[in-house]
Amino acid sequence: MDQIIVRGGHTLNGEIQISGAKNAGLPLMAACLLTSEPLTLTNLPDLADIASMAGVLESFGVDVYRNGGDGPHSTCRMHVPTITETTAPYDLVRKMRASVLVLGPLLARAGHARVSLPGGCAIGTRPVDLHLKAMAALGAEITLEEGYIEARTPKGGLVGGHIVFPFVTVGGTENALMAATLATGETVISNAAREPEITDLANCLIAMGANIDGVGTGTLKVQGVASLHGAQYAVVPDRIETGSYAVAAAITGGTLKLKGTRLELIESLADILKECGVDIIEGDDGDSLTVSRVNGRIRGVDIMTEPYPGFPTDMQAQLMALMATANGASMITESIFENRFMHVPELCRMGANINVHGSSAIVRGVDKLSPAQVMATDLRASVSLVLAALAAEGESVISRVYHLDRGYECLPEKLSACGAQIERVSGR
Ligand code: EPZ
Repeated sequence: MDQIIVRGGHTLNGEIQISGAKNAGLPLMAACLLTSEPLTLTNLPDLADIASMAGVLESFGVDVYRNGGDGPHSTCRMHVPTITETTAPYDLVRKMRASVLVLGPLLARAGHARVSLPGGCAIGTRPVDLHLKAMAALGAEITLEEGYIEARTPKGGLVGGHIVFPFVTVGGTENALMAATLATGETVISNAAREPEITDLANCLIAMGANIDGVGTGTLKVQGVASLHGAQYAVVPDRIETGSYAVAAAITGGTLKLKGTRLELIESLADILKECGVDIIEGDDGDSLTVSRVNGRIRGVDIMTEPYPGFPTDMQAQLMALMATANGASMITESIFENRFMHVPELCRMGANINVHGSSAIVRGVDKLSPAQVMATDLRASVSLVLAALAAEGESVISRVYHLDRGYECLPEKLSACGAQIERVSGR
């Protein structure tokens, strides 16, 4: 297994091109199942999860064509004149939970879906009960058999209905939205997630001919249409990648220009970073950010993760790495996932002073982190260890880097172009 070696203690300065968002790309790819015409996505990142979704779609008869081979910012054309298979098997779903996003589109277009239950993962149990309730609210008959969700529409297909989510679910909202586009009549989705990835999906569906009101709000109203058509759509910049590199500038005390991204995507994070003593300036082009911490140490601030527009859970681990180096203490509360502190023991092995009490972690900043051999447990935990290693003078070795491949395109290359001493090596 590959490892990442970081020789830390170097200030980062330079420019980084931000990729398209993984968590927007995945549902957008699933949306190709809603039409018999081609859907072309541009700015789709080249990541392991994107390749996994392509594999899932191919198993349903989708013709997936990625130009530029494995190159970054590639274009992906997906075309499925006829859906030939409606089962998403355990092996594919186990590999990537987001495979469950095919449930809504398959049901809506093919009238049937058999999708393996994803099971838990490193950050929590992550049930999909709300996805199923949403499909049932549109008339689907759902049973659970031998670890599979078996879903069928009534004769004539899905019927518009009122879906009320008891709490915000990103994937649940995405499945509901996609299914509702082809349901007969009106669907109202209350307490819908408002993440930029949902807005991106809604805008793409609109480009495909869907009729959706309330985009960007907590109430989405969808008037079902008989069919959707093909479209070309550019994936929104990755706000979590943006935030992760913003923390890289902050933790190493340098200046990074992040290109192809926007401040509005990371406002809650930017507010926190500014409070910590980091400068963030939006470029005149509205398409870049300059993040710097040139003077002084980071100040400790309290953070609680919340659904968008609150502070994102996907930035919690990275902020914790930063707070570990702050002047003063910080309380970090995780309110979305029940087990998202797996990075804490690893950060402590690098000299961080962190105590977890239930869903909160008290981080007491230390003068210096120290290099260590550490192990990644999930995607965002992995990048938090890379960030900590960039700040720790000396050589750190991070193992299980396949987690990083799921969500960070060309991470060693992007960081080393800005002065980081980082390399990927085959497992020793
Ligand atoms: C999405 O996961 C993201 N994944 C996650 O990104 C992100 O952390 C999460 O949203 C929250 O922002 C993708 O977009 C592919 P949820 P999702 O449904 O959709 C509970 C990353 O690192 N819940 O909003 O699975 C659930 O257990 C990742 O890129 C139910 O109880 O998240 C969680 O506690 C990891 N029943 C909370 O809701 C359900 O049916 C929010 O989950 C659905 C969710």
